[in-house]
Amino acid sequence: MKAFNDLADFSTDEIRELIALADRLDAHPEPDALKGKVLSLLFLSPSLRTLASFQAAMTRLGGGSFVISPEMSIHGIESRPGIVMDGAAAEHIREAIPVIASYGDAIGIRAFAERKNLEHDMAEVEFHSMTELIDTPYINMESAMNHPCQSLADWKTLDDFAIPANDGKFVLSWAYHPMALPLAVPAATLHMAAHRGMDVTVLRPEGFELPDPLMKKAAAAADAAGGSITETDDRTAAMQDAHVIYAKSWSSTRHYGDRLADQKLREELLDWCVDEPWFDNAKDDCRFMHCLPVRRGVVVADSILDGPRSVVIPEARNRMLAQMAVLHQMLGGSR
Ligand code: CP
Repeated sequence: MKAFNDLADFSTDEIRELIALADRLDAHPEPDALKGKVLSLLFLSPSLRTLASFQAAMTRLGGGSFVISPEMSIHGIESRPGIVMDGAAAEHIREAIPVIASYGDAIGIRAFAERKNLEHDMAEVEFHSMTELIDTPYINMESAMNHPCQSLADWKTLDDFAIPANDGKFVLSWAYHPMALPLAVPAATLHMAAHRGMDVTVLRPEGFELPDPLMKKAAAAADAAGGSITETDDRTAAMQDAHVIYAKSWSSTRHYGDRLADQKLREELLDWCVDEPWFDNAKDDCRFMHCLPVRRGVVVADSILDGPRSVVIPEARNRMLAQMAVLHQMLGGSR
């Protein structure tokens, strides 16, 4: 595996193989599988789970890792192309990335969306500008529009909780959050559930429609896998017979890059906080998923997070197991 950049690059069989490997590594640890291998981790955006789970994954497989982030005692990193570097930053990403990559056998990169221009972010301009600098195998640890490690872990979580693929109803719901957040997780989640063959409903208020190219790509994946995609702002209709609700906040696509207009739109939507009445007409055992971090009492009620519907903790642990499988395949642990 040369890159783990988009779950859509992998067939259903390949994804199932990765999940089977994750399960195997959980049940039968291989503490020497990646002995002597090094993973470079570049975090240009914040993290808890991704940061910790990649380091834990490498350690459990017998390899090592190191982390570089702007908050560390490093020279300031500049990323703008063609800039005259007469300000505070003393190092450009064009040197930093190949140097960091040269110390490892693979590199993970996290760089959130700029959130100024939707077309720019959809084209993954920043992420591509970094990966084109290296020949090292790389892992997308969340880019402007993708989070494949989260999606692989989420697919495994759906399997672990026996949530049906075909005929399973998956609701991807927008939720209130005080800030305009990136589209990476909803974009990746939409495609993951479609790829798995589920009947996916995107539940979102007006102004928060997911971009048309994402919906079309997911619809094609759902079609191929025997699932479907619908979009609505009707909560009751969306939740009818749902097996799972995956809550996430994201930026207004109508006002992308316009912070004040986004703010004005979302401040009317405080009731988009997932709570027990949302589940009135869902399956009795309808599950609650979220990639974390999650704001309690804002995105979701405490009683849901602390109750039997929530699978957020095993979902987060699956990040480590899913990434162990990716690293095992990428770095030759299977040989
Ligand atoms: N879900 C996720 O990627 O969490 P972090 O941002 O904490 O890594």
